[in-house]
Order: sequence, then structure tokens, then C-alpha cells
Amino acid sequence: MTQTSGTHRGILLAGGRGTRLHPLTATVSKQLVAVYDKPMIYYSLTTLMLAGINEIVIVSSPHDLPRFQVLLGDGNRWGLELAYAEQPEPRGIAEALIIGEKFVENRPVMLALGDNVVYGRFDFLRKAIDGAGDHATVFAYHVDDPTAYGVVEFDQSGAVISIEEKPAQPRSRWAVPGMYVYPPGVAAEARALEPSARGELEITDLNRRYLERSALRALPMGRGVAWFDTGTAQELLEASNFIEAIQSRQGLVVGSPEEVAFQMGFISHDEFAALVDALPACRYRDYLERVIVETR
Ligand code: TTP
Repeated sequence: MTQTSGTHRGILLAGGRGTRLHPLTATVSKQLVAVYDKPMIYYSLTTLMLAGINEIVIVSSPHDLPRFQVLLGDGNRWGLELAYAEQPEPRGIAEALIIGEKFVENRPVMLALGDNVVYGRFDFLRKAIDGAGDHATVFAYHVDDPTAYGVVEFDQSGAVISIEEKPAQPRSRWAVPGMYVYPPGVAAEARALEPSARGELEITDLNRRYLERSALRALPMGRGVAWFDTGTAQELLEASNFIEAIQSRQGLVVGSPEEVAFQMGFISHDEFAALVDALPACRYRDYLERVIVETR
């Protein structure tokens, strides 16, 4: 049985405007749009689970939150404790830490964005969580063109030298993916932020507060990891194509909460089997049935 982090709580942020995906997002929340064969939010949810986190609050708009509740429920069947909290207006990623404060209860927290897809070895996540002290951790992913992302510059020890949001002249090729690990007290830090010109509490501004007191570190995710930010139609298609290619080649499914719950020891083999029994006939079920047999 895998140990859960025990210490960290998770915040899964799934609101926002999704304007870049309009008209796809005219009637459906971005994080419910499909990445190949699953709702987008399954990938970030399972990322948190693979980090060993099983107490998670989902933050979304008042309009979309009920849809996530229908999809994910209280999480009990997957060995999770899921809570839900509204973000009345999309006032920035850092606001999620204020909204989630009551749920997080002064514990360290991992914030994950619901439109990010990560695939590969997850050692870097465990490393971030196990090594969490009183500093904040961002991850660093090497990209060809970092100008659309937060960009981080760091030294050999992982100490951050600079962090900038969508710079025209990036100081490195290290993009900052939508996953962050914070120590207790982060909500107070977020509350001290001023809204930016676009009226948002910026996650980069929050990270800069930690940088200013030398309490921000960057952990490279390694080139064996695939990361997608699925905010545009092209990235959405690329992520879907990637997941399809990996799944077809390996005969393994990426981002299944049922399977991850079992692999992480959140549910027993019997509970896993009962869960799959309740699924309708589909390829997803066929796959999970095979896993049940292979792990018996
Ligand atoms: P973005 O992709 O930066 O913003 P967006 O989802 O509103 O999309 P667009 O730019 O196309 O209008 O957001 C990153 C993630 O954070 C995404 O999962 C949505 C979420 N988010 C919120 O939930 N609340 C917010 O206030 C913001 C800014 C983002």
C-alpha cells in the first residue's frame, strides 16, 4: 500500500473564462472538455492523487461547480475527500489559495490547475512534497518558446533567481507549469497581493513574494515528463494526440481516477472491482477489468 502524503492538501482550480477555447467553452466548462477520451479535469485530479494527496478542494465558478460535483461527487469511491468552493469571478489563480484557506487548515498545499496535463515519472512531485519546508516550490519545464508562460531562472541548487509572467525577452527556457507547492500561511501571502492591471491576483506575483525572501525554489520536471497546458485548441489537440498515442502503444490508460486510486492504495482491490462493476460497457471499463485481473 502506498503511503499518502498525509501532510498536504490539494486545491484543484477549475474556473476561469476559457475564452481562448470559445465556442467550445460557450456552454461547457473548459475542464470538462475532452482530452482524448476523458474529461480534462481527470488528468490534474490524478496528478494530485499520484502526489499522494487525497483531500482536495475543487474551486470553480458558481455556474460550473455543480457539473464537477455531478462528475466527481464526494470522491469517496476513489478513496478521496473532495470538497467544493466557489470562485464568484475569475479574479486570478492566486485567489484560489484564499478561497481554499478554510479547507486547507494551515497545512502545506499543492495547487493544481485543471487545464494542465502531465505524463511521466512523478518522482519530482514526491520530491517537492517530501522536501517541503517553509519555502514555496514551482516546477520548471524546458520548452522551445517560453513567452506564453511564467518563466523561471534558477541556480544549480534550485534557488530561484527570477520569475516573470509571459516575458517578451525570456531569461531562460524554463516554463512554470500549473502546479505549485506552498507552506502553511500562503493564504495570508495571497491576501497581501494587489490585483494586476487585468484585475487578477497573479500567481507569479505570489511566487515573487517568496522569491523576495529567498524562499522560492524551482524543481526541474526532467525531460522524461510530458507537460501540456491545454488552454488553446492546438494544445488541446496535441495533448489528445499524445494521450491517444501513449495509450494505444502501451495498452495502459493515462489519468484514470479508478486505477490511480487503487495503485495508490486509496481503495482496496475489492473496492476497485466493485467500482468497475458499476461502469457502463465501454472501452474504459474493458481496460479497468483487465487491470483487475492482472493485479489479482
Ligand atoms: P487561464 O488559462 O490563464 O485562463 P482561462 O481558463 O480563463 O482561459 P482564457 O485565458 O482562455 O480565458 O487559467 C489557467 C487555469 O486556471 C484554468 O484551469 C482556469 C483557472 N482559473 C480559474 O479557475 N480562476 C481564475 O481566476 C483564473 C485566472 C484561472
